[in-house]
Amino acid sequence: MKHKIAILGFGTVGQGISEILLNKKEYLKNKYDFEYDIVAVADFVYGNVYNPYGLDIPLMLQEAKEKKKFSKDLTDWDNLELIRNCNADILCELTYTDLNTGGPAVDHVKAALESGKHVVTSNKGPAALFYPEMKKIADKNGVKFMIEGTVCAGTPVINLADGPLAGCEISKIRGILNGTTNYMLSEMEKGMDYNEVLKVAQELGYAEADPTGDVEGYDARGKVTILANIVMGASLKINDVSCKGITQITSEDIENAKKQNKRWKLIGSVEKKDGKVTGSVAPEMIDLSHPLAGVMGATNALTFTTDLLGDVTIVGPGAGKIETGFSILTDILDIHRNQ
Ligand code: HSE
Repeated sequence: MKHKIAILGFGTVGQGISEILLNKKEYLKNKYDFEYDIVAVADFVYGNVYNPYGLDIPLMLQEAKEKKKFSKDLTDWDNLELIRNCNADILCELTYTDLNTGGPAVDHVKAALESGKHVVTSNKGPAALFYPEMKKIADKNGVKFMIEGTVCAGTPVINLADGPLAGCEISKIRGILNGTTNYMLSEMEKGMDYNEVLKVAQELGYAEADPTGDVEGYDARGKVTILANIVMGASLKINDVSCKGITQITSEDIENAKKQNKRWKLIGSVEKKDGKVTGSVAPEMIDLSHPLAGVMGATNALTFTTDLLGDVTIVGPGAGKIETGFSILTDILDIHRNQ
């Protein structure tokens, strides 16, 4: 089957998955018998475009690079009209994350699922705030709601717990869940200034559209909520997770940690005790000998504590254009291979 793909949001991740699909076209066809056309793209900066036979993605990537509006296949349909009316079977929801209300992404996801389209997303809003509702609509319409990219970019976490770790009871998940702050803490240790390093993290495509979400710990809190509810079967609301970011960590704090052979890390944690699940996000000073201390830059790391395997740790990219773009590819391929 040739898949028809729609992309909502042509920012860092939207461009990342488009580049991957373009560059791996032959490989995906030969190895997985996966063929596709990207038929619809909606973006509030570049415009909404639709071509049921496939858009000119190289041109669109070039236009986005030059910060120009799309020039070909423009449509008057707004986002919801485009989602409902286009001939896509898979919608990638890649607009900005809003962890307060879920933002327009919630309506995008609902419209796609209700019109019988699978949804693949790295947007944490719908997953952290409305997962049960979205899953119910997906099930009712016989389609998938896939969210691997919401936690640790393309590094397998949600699918790991749901797939290879199925059958293990997971009592604790703990680690580094935000690439931006881990990158910032790593660079600050080398002497870079807080504001300067935050700017670089934004330029590298690690930070959220509003980086307050990263530095105040809200992004990690969204991910902890997703892990608690989806992996550990809890029903936590985002505000049930205690949250402290890195804004109060000074260069002096970093120097002090160094003197004690320690290092600051923003740690997210979910734990099940006596059937009750709790979650937290807070900076911790950890010993240099601890495995998480060596995880630097925009890398994430998560340890799952399980009954059958003990601790299982996964380390990999936690942010970035291609790294998050890959999370979208992995879920698209999952849909393709399980159809
Ligand atoms: N801003 C997020 C981070 C992106 O830095 O981890 C990936 O969710």
